[in-house]
Amino acid sequence: MADQDKIDPWGAIEIKDYNRLLATFGIKPFSQLRPLLVEQGIPLHLYMRRGIIFGHRDLDIVMNEFKKGKRIAVLTGFMPSGRFHFGHKLTADQLIYYQSLGFKIFVALADAEAFAVRRIPRETAIKVGVEEYVANLIALGLDPKKTEFYFQTNRGTPYYRLIQLFSGKVTAAEMTAIYGDLTPAKIVSSLTQAADILHVQLEEYGGYDYVIVPVGADQDPHLRLTRDLTDRLREVIDLTRPASTYHKLIRGLDGAKMSSSRPDSTIFLTDPLETARKKLMAALTGGRATAEEQRKLGGIPEKCTIYDLYMYHLILDDEKLREIYEECRSGRLLCGKCKRYAWSLLEEFLREHREKLEVAKEIAYKIVEVPGF
Ligand code: TRP
Ligand code: SF4
Repeated sequence: MADQDKIDPWGAIEIKDYNRLLATFGIKPFSQLRPLLVEQGIPLHLYMRRGIIFGHRDLDIVMNEFKKGKRIAVLTGFMPSGRFHFGHKLTADQLIYYQSLGFKIFVALADAEAFAVRRIPRETAIKVGVEEYVANLIALGLDPKKTEFYFQTNRGTPYYRLIQLFSGKVTAAEMTAIYGDLTPAKIVSSLTQAADILHVQLEEYGGYDYVIVPVGADQDPHLRLTRDLTDRLREVIDLTRPASTYHKLIRGLDGAKMSSSRPDSTIFLTDPLETARKKLMAALTGGRATAEEQRKLGGIPEKCTIYDLYMYHLILDDEKLREIYEECRSGRLLCGKCKRYAWSLLEEFLREHREKLEVAKEIAYKIVEVPGF
């Protein structure tokens, strides 16, 4: 594998070529799966229809087993290291979708990882975990009664036992081959993430038959490691390889990788309206240098971060989205007007979300067990 193909799940990576990723790592294109899901009567999520979820491993197997009545868990995790933004919402929406299909949802709050890799103080990780992540997930529509949220450091002995077992089943050289250079903190975080993914199959945590892990494409190294560990552990514990889906990472408003360390590139779900409006108005578009040129040549939605927002979050109706695409391409729609429209949608969303968040925060503290030490 060429070095350029190594993915650092902790780095500020930008994946330019998703097809290359599929080919290099043997991830299956999601497009092939769509007809199968439709045939099984499983409604496709917007991200599945629009190619935002572009790849998967073994989702076909798990969906088949689901149809046969097997118990399926869906698990993902969030590092409580910054505020909840529209990139995180991508994962949240998928959890809500799987919940609507009847799957059991687990959410790992990766406080151990946040401390080890990002040096986030413990109290901060806990506060952010509950008030930003759990609260926003609930406010977005995840049903707190049907979701199990947990902090990594609080998950109990059988979970930790898995991490010990894993540590004896992989060599440093193999880890380097997957991740590149590693620190002890990153090694422990990877094994902890593998425990997150697999522990829901243990009796103590519900004994689910299969687990699906919806993540951003940058998390695939962890899944490769976890799948290898599952195979190697088989004589000790019989676990099933996790299935996973991969979504494209939404770009920041400046066109580069979205990151909470560059707050202007990202709209947080708790941004005051005026802050959000300013960020949106300053966002990179696919517009031309002058209005005249744009009328003549049309805009380029593929380059436009406003269009990204429409596609990922603001326009749920496919027909309406196509209409905007065509209006932009043909030069009939100019960026100023388009941004004002985007803002009207975003403003409404943020206003409603803010109200839900008040209630959600109170619920969050009641349902999550906060680590006691
Ligand atoms: N490492 C993930 C991140 O940085 C968070 C995470 C922890 C996770 N445990 C997980 C993701 C289990 C998926 C499954 O965002
Ligand atoms: Fe983007 Fe809209 Fe401008 Fe097209 S018209 S480039 S979609 S802001």
